[in-house]
Amino acid sequence: MKIAMLASEGAPYAKSGGLGDVMEALPAALSRIPGNEVCLILPYYKKIKENPKYETELAAEFQVTLGWRQQYAGLMRLKNRQDGVRVYFLDNDYYFGARPGAIYGDGDDDERFAYFSKACLDAMAVMGFIPDVIQCNDWQTALVPTYLKSIYRPLFPQTKCMFTIHNIEYQGWSNANFFDDVLRLPWEYRPCLDMNGSVNVMKGAIETCDLVTTVSETYARELMYPYYAHGLDGIIAGASWKLTGITNGIDVHTFNPETDPALPAHYNADTIAQGKALCKQALQKELGLPVRADVPLLVMVTRLAGHKGLDLLCYIARSLLSQEDLQIAILGTGEVQYESFFRGLQAEFPEKMAAKITFDLGLAARMYAGGDIYMMPSRSEPCGLSQMNAMHYGTVPVVHATGGLKDTVPGVDDDGCNGLGYSFQSYNADDFYGALDRCLGLYRENPEAFRALQIRDMRQDFSWNVPAAKYMELFRSMCQK
Ligand code: GLC
Repeated sequence: MKIAMLASEGAPYAKSGGLGDVMEALPAALSRIPGNEVCLILPYYKKIKENPKYETELAAEFQVTLGWRQQYAGLMRLKNRQDGVRVYFLDNDYYFGARPGAIYGDGDDDERFAYFSKACLDAMAVMGFIPDVIQCNDWQTALVPTYLKSIYRPLFPQTKCMFTIHNIEYQGWSNANFFDDVLRLPWEYRPCLDMNGSVNVMKGAIETCDLVTTVSETYARELMYPYYAHGLDGIIAGASWKLTGITNGIDVHTFNPETDPALPAHYNADTIAQGKALCKQALQKELGLPVRADVPLLVMVTRLAGHKGLDLLCYIARSLLSQEDLQIAILGTGEVQYESFFRGLQAEFPEKMAAKITFDLGLAARMYAGGDIYMMPSRSEPCGLSQMNAMHYGTVPVVHATGGLKDTVPGVDDDGCNGLGYSFQSYNADDFYGALDRCLGLYRENPEAFRALQIRDMRQDFSWNVPAAKYMELFRSMCQK
């Protein structure tokens, strides 16, 4: 099957979050399936363009029409990708190549990604790559199904389009003028992109694509409710006949405690006792915490954003630190109030609290490996990858039972058997404390059961093989229609 995957980020080239991880591992997993030809197109951001590791050659040049604008596009083929995925970067200095900033956050992001979405379709047409299926992701590539259906159908007569929602919070809003000025779609598409008089490109994608998927089964159900859907619940409900949830995997080749170059010691489920102890010791040293094997080390690697459940942690952190014999380590950057709160806690409890307000992938891996307990109390979580990373490194997750957290962390029994971690149902700080308390109870009172739980976590299959097979099933079902 010919599959085109379009996204605004993909590791290792450009990544700001989980979407980048998915766009690294999913194309690779799909291209391992015999008979598949997988092509991935990403914007040629400045940091990719300037990175000498990525050798490219010019595959095509063409013009993209965006309203009254004619914009250059260079299609750069990556020469040194080994795993069979054909990677292309779309080169345009005005929108991507000469922008110094991060991936997102410019005032004209709507125009930048409208350009990218349209240019991807043009690029495939120019290359003569007419895929059976296009898989596109989040608002940045949400215009693809709408353009496909409205303007590009003659060039792609049979091509089906899947739209995957990684996070419904960001929908790609623009003012009404954008429709004519930039998109210049046929007028009959105005209602499908319209939301309260403005343009909402995610809404358009949900309506025009052949299938909508999201990144866990529970999140697919949650999206029917206003609490989770950020205004799109009605639209999602109307499209429920074509909505499916497929829980993400993690890249078990990159995230592997047996080989991860960031770790001071390596281990697997059989050698966890020695390996993890060494990692914990080294981590405590690195974080400036007292080196103690017996004290539980609670870790969290996260963007410091409200929906990650930080308000719950802030609420209980002082009592946890003053009442319990434990250590807490947080790694991440984000909203200023959280950054300063955790810095303040570290100053107040230097023996127990470490706040690393930075972005550091190596330290992240060492925290997954060196921690005992991983905290992830997200208010909502489409899938979440770090709870899986943590489990894969033998660190027991304590999570809010929402979205992908609910699907990937089945609860442990009272006696510590079965299940993979601890969770709490309703989003409040006391219940989070309760779940942590149960986990700490097992750690302290039943170390054998805690160890068995860690081993269960490590042996769980979080690879992309199962989700990739599910994507294939949906691709086939789309093509049969
Ligand atoms: C987004 C979601 C996260 C998910 C990731 C990859 O970042 O917030 O829950 O794991 O996308 O699908």
